[in-house]
Amino acid sequence: MEKKIEKMFVPHLSKIKPYEPARPLEEQSERSGVPAEKIIRLNANENPYGPSPKVTESLSTLNAHIYPDPSQRVVRDKIAEYAGVDPSMVIAGAGSDEIIDMLLRLFISPGDKVIECTPTFGMYSFYGMITGAEIVSIPRTDHFMIDVKGTINAIDEHTKILFLNSPNNPTGNLASREDVVKFLDTNIIVVVDEAYHEFARETVSDLVSEYENLVVLRSFSKWAGIAGLRAGYGIMTPIIVNRMMDIKSPFNINTAGQAAIVASLEDRHTLLKNVDIIINQRNELFSSLNNITNVKPSPSRGNYILCEFPSGQADLVFNGLVSRGIFVRKYSNPLLKDHLRISVGTPEQNVAVVNSLIYLVNSLEAPVNISDN
Ligand SMILES: Cc1ncc(COP(=O)(O)O)c(C=O)c1O
Repeated sequence: MEKKIEKMFVPHLSKIKPYEPARPLEEQSERSGVPAEKIIRLNANENPYGPSPKVTESLSTLNAHIYPDPSQRVVRDKIAEYAGVDPSMVIAGAGSDEIIDMLLRLFISPGDKVIECTPTFGMYSFYGMITGAEIVSIPRTDHFMIDVKGTINAIDEHTKILFLNSPNNPTGNLASREDVVKFLDTNIIVVVDEAYHEFARETVSDLVSEYENLVVLRSFSKWAGIAGLRAGYGIMTPIIVNRMMDIKSPFNINTAGQAAIVASLEDRHTLLKNVDIIINQRNELFSSLNNITNVKPSPSRGNYILCEFPSGQADLVFNGLVSRGIFVRKYSNPLLKDHLRISVGTPEQNVAVVNSLIYLVNSLEAPVNISDN
């Protein structure tokens, strides 16, 4: 029998499928039997080089007893200078995840529609469902290209937001500027999530001053290596920024997050050198993966590579990697049942994953014949 307390929950929340976040190192260690310090963690698109030393330094001198600035003045000024926009067009969040959540809370009433181009980042549908939105998932076409016609045809009077991710996680490809403009011309809110911008070096942020229905999202988790401190931002018309400021939790980014943003931007030169290394490593990793028979990597502009395996093998490969202490990302989305996404690690980590894949894929290709002695 349903308990009294359960009847009090918001009804549509009972249907929410939880997001499947990356598990902590300790759990990965327990699962694989490999000590935590030896785990090769290539499942969350984290930055293997970590934060700038200036971030670590600034964290040691924080005034932790004082509330952070709710207006994010310093942070917004610094981000605006970095992104080449006016500070009035910037709002920072506890990760870009929080901006996705705030956008949905700002625009969605239960029953409104949100469009995503699947496969894509799972948080759009997750937060969308929490606000009571109907999620319309338009499958991508060949080579994971956006189905522009299908997406535009799916827009009706209930559609409020289209989420585009460029480069798209997990497929690695960009949304073309031309397509973004086509979507903007439909007048719905178009969110272009550029969490991996620094690895792709392409942006549509310059279009924000022209289109007030465009929102660009960015993250410090990837290029600046501070995923654990939760720092991201959005670029959008001041009209949306101001309303979002009104509804946001006053101290949404904490003092450590704000200090880390400032220190990262001051030391961007060092961090962008690490990004260069990761881009080179990504290209090398792609060639190595492409040389493995039965592994089909998708070209990527992010810090990760999606790989396709022969039907039914992705799970076996995933488990084989886990037993070696190597964690990559697998998916419950049926469109990705034969795929794994590998984040770009250090050169040593990349060699380890490639060597393990060569071994695993070969052993799956030639199953042991039990009549052989
Ligand atoms: C496409 C995309 N957007 C947003 C995020 C969230 O980033 P943040 O850590 O800034 O919340 C991620 C994280 O993996 C992502 O892949």
